[in-house]
Amino acid sequence: MSNLPIIKKVGFVNVEFGKVVTVVEPCNLYGCKIGDASFIGPFTEIQKDVEIGKRTKVQSHTFICELVSIGDDCFIGHGVVFVNDLFKFGGPARGDKSQWLPTQVGDRVSIGSNVTVLPVKICDDVVIGAGAVVTKDIIESGVYVGNPARKIG
Ligand SMILES: CC(C)(COP(=O)(O)OP(=O)(O)OC[C@H]1O[C@@H](n2cnc3c(N)ncnc32)[C@H](O)[C@@H]1OP(=O)(O)O)[C@@H](O)C(=O)NCCC(=O)NCCS
Repeated sequence: MSNLPIIKKVGFVNVEFGKVVTVVEPCNLYGCKIGDASFIGPFTEIQKDVEIGKRTKVQSHTFICELVSIGDDCFIGHGVVFVNDLFKFGGPARGDKSQWLPTQVGDRVSIGSNVTVLPVKICDDVVIGAGAVVTKDIIESGVYVGNPARKIG
């Protein structure tokens, strides 16, 4: 006979929602803050201490890890993955949060589908093309594409 797995259910735990937030289930949101009039699509995971501003849209299948903050009026496309553990010491930090690094996304930032964002700062008014990998801080507004992401306009 097969063994039973350990099943953990999350749903919404300790989430601070602003006014008129829309969330489409199923998703796992815990210990995070979602600003007024924001939208969270299905199959998303938003971890502890993440802060999302006002009127920001997070589309389905996106993963937003601890130490990420996102500003107002942003668009986070489908399947966007944020990273806080760079495997700096030869592999995963395995829960040693002292090795994790933060990401800060400004206001009016649009991130295309399937983008990976390593721990960086992204300034206001930036567009990141679908499939890009953001490896360095973006300090000038504009359009960025590719792996590693480079400015094209
Ligand atoms: C990045 C983006 C905004 C650029 O749009 P644009 O300014 O109209 O750019 P163009 O289509 O004129 O392309 C300019 C150049 O960048 C390249 N390019 C465009 N998007 C690219 C991308 N995502 N990755 C890599 N290169 C890209 C084009 O091939 C073109 O290259 P070339 O000059 O060598 O021919 C757009 O292509 C994009 O990726 N949008 C994201 C859409 C998205 O994910 N939406 C989610 C909701 S459905």
